[in-house]
Amino acid sequence: MLGPVLLAAARSDSIRRVVSAAPVTRPVVDRYVAGERLDQCLESVRSLAGHGMEVTLDHLGEDITDRSEALRNRDAYLALADSLAGEGLGPRAEMSVKLSAFGQALPGGDDLAYANVLPVVEAAAAAGTTVTLDMEDHTTVDSTLAILAKLRERFPQTGAVVQSYLFRTEDDCHALAGEGSRVRLVKGAYKEPAEVAFQDKREVDRAYVRCLKILMAGDGYPMIGSHDPRMVAIGQELARRFGRKPDEYEFQMLYGIRAAEQERLVAEGHRMRVYIPYGTDWYGYFMRRLAERPANLAFFLRSLATR
Ligand code: FDA
Repeated sequence: MLGPVLLAAARSDSIRRVVSAAPVTRPVVDRYVAGERLDQCLESVRSLAGHGMEVTLDHLGEDITDRSEALRNRDAYLALADSLAGEGLGPRAEMSVKLSAFGQALPGGDDLAYANVLPVVEAAAAAGTTVTLDMEDHTTVDSTLAILAKLRERFPQTGAVVQSYLFRTEDDCHALAGEGSRVRLVKGAYKEPAEVAFQDKREVDRAYVRCLKILMAGDGYPMIGSHDPRMVAIGQELARRFGRKPDEYEFQMLYGIRAAEQERLVAEGHRMRVYIPYGTDWYGYFMRRLAERPANLAFFLRSLATR
């Protein structure tokens, strides 16, 4: 029951102000966010690289309300790409972007988001890396996939995310499983209505397995985005069944979640990519992480109570 409440709170400005201002929030946020500044994020990249991991970097930001914010977000990613190039981190570090941070929900949003994300994709290519378009709520999926298709005409390595909780996703997996595509499969983190998405966790898990089979059987590059031990084991099994070598798929997990499992997969010879968010606009991301696991909320509330 708590999950939907937290997901609704994730989009409330008044709750955002209260939670962001509470001093006790910070230590809990630090578990999931690698810092507010680029140099802090790069420190985490180096540290994870030292443990044999790849990363994808998210400059936090979403649901903007005016065009100037889109430009600021674009510029933050351009600075990030510059740093990756400068430090030679390109091959190990890719970037994840949310198109709502590039103006997707504003008037003329499809063109605006495309115009703002294109220079970032170009800068990523120049830095020897690529970009994955995160997937947001279901109302954005058609627009995001259309922008992906346009970007892939020039930058075929641009990655997509699909969410197994959406009824449409098996079809999307079939469409995206072709040669050269890079697809991150996740369960989905938004509050979605029953008309478009499975509500029962077991249904979401079953759909995840169906989608993973499609991607693993296809010609693209599947990215298994899950901390669920069952999904990880099924991913390993499907990789074996479809004869995929270790560099023909990868596991992905979020910064701060199941770090020991991340190391275990690397030690077993799997490619493991950690999604590292950084920046000041952490509220929506943080609330989705709380919603995924009620124990996180209990931890957060306990730290409030013990002050
Ligand atoms: P599940 O929620 O069943 O969790 C399995 C286990 O993982 C839990 O029992 C717990 O041990 C651990 N765990 C999971 N979440 C945790 C948390 N918050 N804190 C502590 N432990 C936790 N979603 C989306 O809609 N669009 C996107 O673009 C992305 N991008 C993305 C990238 C990457 C790399 C990952 C790993 C995930 C995403 N997601 C996402 C989030 C995704 O949709 C989903 O909400 C979370 O991954 C949680 O689902 P799991 O598959 O981990 O399983």
